[in-house]
Amino acid sequence: MEHTRIKELLQSDKFDNDVIVKGWVRTFRNNQFIAINDGSTIHNIQAVVDFEQTDDSLLKRITTGAAVRVEGKLIESLGKGQRVEIKVTDLQILGDSDPEKYPLQPKKHSLEFLREIAHLRFRTGTFNAIFKIRHALSFAVHQFFNEREFVYLHTPIITGSDAEGAGEMFRVTTLDLDNLPRTDSGEIDFKEDFFGKSTNLTVSGQLEGELAAMAFGNIYTFGPTFRAENSNTTRHLAEFWMIEPEMAFYELEDNMDLAEALLKYVINYALEHCPDEIELLKTRLFEEEKTKPQNERSALNLVEKLNFVIENNFERVSYTDAIEILKRSKPNQKKQFKYLIDEWGADLQSEHERYLVEKHFKKPVILTDYPREIKSFYMKQNEPDAQGRHTVRAMDILFPGIGEMVGGSQREESLDKLLARMAEVGIPEEEIDWFLDTRRFGSAPHSGFGVGFERLILFVTGMTNIRDVIPFPRTPKNAEF
Ligand code: 4AD
Ligand code: MG
Repeated sequence: MEHTRIKELLQSDKFDNDVIVKGWVRTFRNNQFIAINDGSTIHNIQAVVDFEQTDDSLLKRITTGAAVRVEGKLIESLGKGQRVEIKVTDLQILGDSDPEKYPLQPKKHSLEFLREIAHLRFRTGTFNAIFKIRHALSFAVHQFFNEREFVYLHTPIITGSDAEGAGEMFRVTTLDLDNLPRTDSGEIDFKEDFFGKSTNLTVSGQLEGELAAMAFGNIYTFGPTFRAENSNTTRHLAEFWMIEPEMAFYELEDNMDLAEALLKYVINYALEHCPDEIELLKTRLFEEEKTKPQNERSALNLVEKLNFVIENNFERVSYTDAIEILKRSKPNQKKQFKYLIDEWGADLQSEHERYLVEKHFKKPVILTDYPREIKSFYMKQNEPDAQGRHTVRAMDILFPGIGEMVGGSQREESLDKLLARMAEVGIPEEEIDWFLDTRRFGSAPHSGFGVGFERLILFVTGMTNIRDVIPFPRTPKNAEF
């Protein structure tokens, strides 16, 4: 490699050295100053061309988006805004970019516009910062678990089971949709399908994760998961990444401790490793909030928000207590909630979660012990309370501005109780017979949780639409690129 990365040059003080830079033109001013970016940092390097010594035809090709090779001397910059610059001795255009046609102009584009050209948005400072942070957070997740000797388990993407029992699955098939094979009784004959049975994309690696936890002790998965829920919101994707640890011999308290430690660790990692990126996004958020009325702006800036989460304990509250708080809350009394809370058992909507986190506790909240009826079949059942109400050892972690970031629970280890619950919600035993073996042979208390990776990135970057923190978002009616 003959060239030096711009990140390195911007920190260099080897003045008068000859250097070579390869990158893309961000702007070209006064026929003289080229701002070049090569992706190694959100910052550009300034290269100064001697326009009197340069052919006009070449100068005309220095346009936003063009790929260039620049050779010259690294010098201390005279201008404001940068410490070093390059005095160009040789300039080559590696790839032209027609300014009449190139969609990215050197001006501020809206996030909505950039979403339409998601194949080019990596070339902007904002998206450079977001995806560097996404990278750093992935790396931090692996480092966290590796330090604690969790085994990284690759659970299948194609499965025959519905781990959440919510039925929001994308089918995987090679059957000819125009000519479906039928059984004698007229149903679709999945024996003819590729796997000889009906299959779908996974909604969660949890069930397979539990199998491995009952052998390794502690495992985690970190992979893509798929939900065909028709929720066109700023918090939902049809394809998202989930981090799912599963731990033998962990009870609910241990589970919450681990989740809280993980979130604090990775947020801290991002602060330490991506200070420039977070600073840029802090400014972006500040500018965005300026357009809102005063009472909707957040009191803390992005960096303060991140530090606040690291430095404070998450509030741990039972569902039952949360319902009491919500019942008595102003928006409930004044009927401002869209869904009023009047009874124990109600599922919490995002307006309720946000009230608890943003208005009442003003910090991340872990809600525990939800009603059995609104949670998944595999969660450990509590003894019914004095009023005969059934709850499960669930825990959801709610974050300011995000809502649910984590969903998890202690698992039901009793085969009988699990089977009884499956029968109640209509999950046939044969469907997950292999899973039930964990309860048949050497069953033990165990727990786990799932972190929505994009929701975590939303929080760390201060972005507000989940489509902006995954390179190529998949949402209802949209699978571009
Ligand atoms: O609460 P969920 O559905 O929990 C599970 O899937 C469990 N099997 C996890 C476990 O215990 N191993 O999903 C976990 C998290 C949610 O809290 C949310 O952050 C995220 O995944 N999530 C989504 N993120 C983006 N788009 C969607 N459609 C999401 N659905 C869930
Ligand atoms: Mg959930």
